[in-house]
Amino acid sequence: MALQLGDIAPNFTAETTEGTVDFYEYLGDGWGVLFSHPKDFTPVCTTELGEVARLKGEFDKRNTKVLGLSVDPVSSHEGWSQDITDATGQKLNFPLIGDPDRKVSDLYGMIHPNANDTLTVRSVFVIGPDKKVKLTITYPASTGRNFAEILRVIDSLQLTSKYSVSTPVNWTDGEDVIIAPAISDDDAKERFPKGFTTVKPYLRYTPQPNR
Ligand code: BEZ
Repeated sequence: MALQLGDIAPNFTAETTEGTVDFYEYLGDGWGVLFSHPKDFTPVCTTELGEVARLKGEFDKRNTKVLGLSVDPVSSHEGWSQDITDATGQKLNFPLIGDPDRKVSDLYGMIHPNANDTLTVRSVFVIGPDKKVKLTITYPASTGRNFAEILRVIDSLQLTSKYSVSTPVNWTDGEDVIIAPAISDDDAKERFPKGFTTVKPYLRYTPQPNR
């Protein structure tokens, strides 16, 4: 059964471009993003890894560790990482798992036999400090991911884990948020001193509380 939201993200140890990694130790008590690639020396994956390297500072700001995976061995990743630098100008600055025996890929359900029975699809798992799965997204091999969207979701997850709010369509950090319908108007006045706007009794906007 595929991992679902709220499931515990299973721990593992794996060989990576930065040595042996114990997943839980690597995450510490922060957030994590585990994402898979179909294969080394492929064009879309090359652009994605360069982009994650470029955004590493943004993940750091969010106390979020990134960990990539491709089913090829680490020895292959080492050759590929030079190509990634040549092609994107970005040096790999986070570990990339080599998973030739598919231990981690199988554990996380990253192989989808109806898409391809040997290659991993483009899976993304966001994991919270409680080691629970907070987001899963699966893309086909032919579509590169939008890592700005992953950052946007992490912003929402981190905010909504602290306040009784949710974030509306296309929300980005700093924009108004929605007060949880379970909060009464009286309670909302206390919890959200910047005030709120009622569009419908169940749709009340308030400025982002931590700004
Ligand atoms: C790519 O990264 O470009 C790719 C990998 C596997 C299948 C198709 C595309």
